Parts: sequence; structure tokens; C-alpha cells
Amino acid sequence: MTEIIGIFDTTLRDGEQSPGFSMNVAEKLRVAEQLEKLNVDIIEAGFPISSEGDFVAVREIAKNIRKPQIAGLARTEIQDIDRAWEALQYAHNPLIHIVIATSDIHLKYKLMKSKEEVLDAAVKAVKHAKGYTTNVEFSAEDATRSDVEYLCRILEAVIDAGATTINIPDTVGYAIPEEFGSLIKHIRERVPNIDKACISIHCHNDLGLAVANTLAGIKNGARKVECAINGIGERAGNASLEEIVMALRTRKDFHKCDTNIRTEHIYNTSRLLAHITGVPVQPNKAIVGSNAFAHESGIHQDGVLKEKTTYEIMTPESIGVSQSTLVLGKHSGRHAFRERLRQIGYELSEGNLNLAFKRFKKLADKKKTVFDADIEAIIIDEILRIPDTYKLIYLNVISGSVTVPVATVQIEVGGEIVQEAGFGGGPVDATFKAISKITGTESKLARYSVNSITGGTDALGEVTVRLEENGVQVTGQGADTDIIMASAKAFVNALNRLEYRKKHPIVIQ
Ligand code: KIV
Ligand code: ZN
Repeated sequence: MTEIIGIFDTTLRDGEQSPGFSMNVAEKLRVAEQLEKLNVDIIEAGFPISSEGDFVAVREIAKNIRKPQIAGLARTEIQDIDRAWEALQYAHNPLIHIVIATSDIHLKYKLMKSKEEVLDAAVKAVKHAKGYTTNVEFSAEDATRSDVEYLCRILEAVIDAGATTINIPDTVGYAIPEEFGSLIKHIRERVPNIDKACISIHCHNDLGLAVANTLAGIKNGARKVECAINGIGERAGNASLEEIVMALRTRKDFHKCDTNIRTEHIYNTSRLLAHITGVPVQPNKAIVGSNAFAHESGIHQDGVLKEKTTYEIMTPESIGVSQSTLVLGKHSGRHAFRERLRQIGYELSEGNLNLAFKRFKKLADKKKTVFDADIEAIIIDEILRIPDTYKLIYLNVISGSVTVPVATVQIEVGGEIVQEAGFGGGPVDATFKAISKITGTESKLARYSVNSITGGTDALGEVTVRLEENGVQVTGQGADTDIIMASAKAFVNALNRLEYRKKHPIVIQ
């Protein structure tokens, strides 16, 4: 019999809190909508007490997303739980997720509390959360470096207090699969009331073992797994959702487990996240990397042409990678455009469809054939990224071998159009200087890169910039056939993220 493993997605909490992955409220809501489409069981929408932005994001996701459970993180502090509930109360099926560390290292150096004090705080917190909802999860942070007997004792106590899920995190990615599997087995055997709670696991990837540990945990009785799209998360990240899901699906014969995930939405979800955060997926990433289904060597190509299963253990279609390449041209109409969008996974409102279609027509005038990747870039650039403070209106650049490059830029700030000019060593430098004058930014450019989305000199160029200001790092992206314009869009996108972070600093008391 195949058992179903619950998917608890923490892209918007553990993922979003890692450097360079911040998203504003509207962007988080977009990702949450996509996670709902993917059919995850639980969306951890944020850590409401950590910032005003996180609070609003959890509240909006709780109000708007109906099918998955919505979780909010809280420490054992009463004000954390109250704040989490304030945001979660609108959810169809809310989940309060309580965490406190249980390892000796954390108790001694971080919490400065005794084992009894931590146990007491955990029990009180779970009881308090139960006053709001029946659905309460308890996480024993740094469980894999905790004294196992103490861990079992605290788990028993929180289950008695009403926790319906107990989560075993490998917080620092320290565990080895065999060992992690044994820990789960031990908990199942030694915690007397374990049948009253679901065992969940949460593995980090510091040694590159997060997915292996997760699978070992499942083999030994974990029935819920915490993971993130593209494996994003603290430091080396969390276990990657797509890898766990496809490992279970592809090797169902071995695991005897599966998930409710609609795998045909995996690729789009991965792309959406990469584009919204501006952090690309490495080409050789399992499942969603651009090379994941590419066969380069002659022997492999020959094999695949004769019989796909020689070198393909799963089909690209199963994760939603479309095999069609040639799509539309300048004569294609609105109907064909909408149809193609549907096929690649985007259902747009009339207003957004009009915006995207206008941009598509402009691109088709410049570019003979418009590929799926171009359409996707348009959607991301035009619809999915949400500017909150600055909006690029106009850019004109004069550059060449006998002139000092000069850029004139107009940006809308708070409903007003502001114009400035800047000189620079090159056209990008001049553009960034003009934008910096308007925005008054003091950020430093930490990275600048240009990629071509498809082949040919008429291809869309995709620019990524990384900015840093007072220890806060953000990434921005922009796409255009003109790479100076793409650079300006990327810079403005990053500045918007920086402004958002300034308005919503992460404050953990
Ligand atoms: O890594 C960790 O321990 C966590 C907990 C909040 C589950 O993220
Ligand atoms: Zn974590």
C-alpha cells in the first residue's frame, strides 16, 4: 500500500529569511497561490512577530489561500503565539508552529535555560496555542544534536499538552541518513504517546544530505516533511521539495510512499521563485536545473533517440517542462497568446493579459520568433514582480567610442515623475548613476551579470544585480532586448526590494 506523505512547504519562512531571498507581501502572495496550485498540504507563510512585513504576509495568505493549511512560526514566548494567531485567525485551516531549541549547546549558550525550564516553556506554549486552534506543531530545534532521552521526554510532554505534530529538525544539517533514520525510529519506539501525533522532519543541507536524511526519516516513520522550492533556506538551504517529491514518485516501488503534489506544476513553481527573488537555479540542479533533462554526449543522445528510458528516469513533462520550442511570431493574435500562456502554466486576469500582450507585440516586432522562455520573461518582468516604491518610466542613453556615456532616466516615486541624468564609464554605469541620483541610494553593487534568455543577437537579455546596504543583501532582475534597459530594470527592482526591507526590518526581540 502506498502511504501519502504530507508536504509542509517552508519556502516563504525558512527560505525567505535567508540572505538575498526576501520578497514583499504581494510577491509572497503570488508564490503562495502557486504553492496552492502545486497542491502542497501546508504553507508556512512566515514568522509573524519577526517583522511587520512578515505579519502582513501571513495574514494576507491566511485570508486568500483556501486549500492548504497555513502555518505561522512562533517561539515559546506568549506574545509570539498571540501575534501568530492574530495573523493566522483568518485561515481556513490554521497551524501554529512553535519552536524551542533542545540541544545542550543551544540551552547553554543561546537560551541560557535549564532542561526543565525549556520543557516547561514548551508545554506552556503548546497549551496557550491550543486555546486558539487544535492544530499545533512543536519543533525541537537542533534535535539531531540533542540528548535523545531529553528529546523524547519533551516530545512526550508537548504531545500530552496537545501538540498534534512533533517536528524533528536537523537544524544545522549535521545528521547522516542512517543516523537520522534511527533517531526517528527511536522516537517512534520510545515516546509512549507518539500515536497521538504526526512525526514531521525538517532537514538542512549543510553537508548536502538534506534530501537523503528526509528520505531516511520517511523510511523510519516520518509522515510529514518540511521542505522548500529550489531547496532555499538558511545557509545551504532546506531539503528541496521537488527532489523529495520526485524521489518518492519515481521510486515508489522502493519507498511505498507518495505525495499529493501535482508534479506538472513543479517547473513553473521553481521558475516563479527564481524570477521573483532574482536568484537563479544552478544548471545542474536535480529536477529543475536547465540541464536536468539535457543529453549532451553522443552515446546518450543516441540512446534517448532510440528509447527515452535508456537515460531518462522521469519525463520532463512530468514536472511540467514543455517540449515545444517554437511558439509565436508577430502575426500571432491575443487568443493564441492566451492559449500559449495557459499551456505553459499562466492564467492571467484580463488586465494582466492586456499588459503582457502589449509587451509581447513589442518583442515580436524586434524578434522573429518568440519562445516560451521569452514569454515567461515577459510575464515575470511585467506581471509577477511588483514595484512598491520606484517605477522606471523612461531611459535614454547616448554612448559610443567618441562620447562620454550619458543616461537620462525618469522614475515615478510616490506618484511623481522625477528625472535625472548621469555620466559614467559606460552606458550601464551612466544609467545606474542617474538612477542613484533619483533614489539617493547608498547601496553598493555587489554583483552584476547578463544572460541571454534564448539564442541569437535579438534575444532578450536578462540582467541580475545584487545590492548591499548595511549588511542587507537584495537581488534584482530585469529582461529586455536592450541590455541597458534590462540593467536599469534590474537595478530598480533591487532598489524596490531594499526599500521594502528598510520599511519592514526583521526584528526578533
Ligand atoms: O531549522 C530549524 O530548526 C527550523 C525550525 C523553526 C523548524 O527552521
Ligand atoms: Zn530550518
